[in-house]
Amino acid sequence: MPKLCVNVDHVATIREARKTNEPDPVAAALIAERAGAIGITIHLREDRRHIQDRDLKLMRQVVRGKLNLEMAPVSEMQGIALDVKPEQVTLVPERREEITTEGGLDVAGNIEHIAGLMKLLRDAGLLLSLFIDPHPEQIEAAKELNADFVELNTAAYSEARGHLSQEKELAALSEASVKADGLGLGVHAGHGLTYLNVEAVASLPHLQELNIGHSIVSHSVFVGFERAVREMSNIIERAGPV
Ligand code: PXP
Repeated sequence: MPKLCVNVDHVATIREARKTNEPDPVAAALIAERAGAIGITIHLREDRRHIQDRDLKLMRQVVRGKLNLEMAPVSEMQGIALDVKPEQVTLVPERREEITTEGGLDVAGNIEHIAGLMKLLRDAGLLLSLFIDPHPEQIEAAKELNADFVELNTAAYSEARGHLSQEKELAALSEASVKADGLGLGVHAGHGLTYLNVEAVASLPHLQELNIGHSIVSHSVFVGFERAVREMSNIIERAGPV
């Protein structure tokens, strides 16, 4: 059964809507841990639209579980990661015009660039995860790069409408998880997961962690952050094998 890592980016989105100091994503991280999250995920984007450098530094000091930094594979972010040393770095693609991360990282098409970026991070002792679409060639490329984990992109499943297409996307995730595990890679998943669609994903084989953000922050507006995290964590814990 996978564990929940809470992405607190959108607590920062609300703060940045007013360029003020509330709500503080650092406070959200502490509450999430108290409510059962085993880790905190933040995406420091190049345009700093939500999480700021200050948030990362403070979280490094106060988060007791895993701090997972999502970042684009660029040298500016590599330098920041080497400086702050989160426990884990997840490499994600990034385009300035996008509303949220669109699609997984094309690891297979950028082996050399990503290998070069990963080397210093690995030498510094950071765990390395690659956010990829659930395609065999991307998993094989992640293995070639000796990543610790792949994070399977659940966006296609989350966006699928109708039972048949949801089942198709779920099967692709399941096959990808089995393949990654067979190659010795740890398996994480996330993107677009909600209280309504998470259970089937949480039941997939070999899955160790789920990264969930937007739906938890949305629900917290009505029920409070601690309860929102606890409810999500409970659904994941209750999910059994398919
Ligand atoms: N995993 C990755 C790699 C992401 O980029 C995001 C979004 O920042 C998430 C998980 C969480 O997605 P959501 O906010 O839709 O739960």
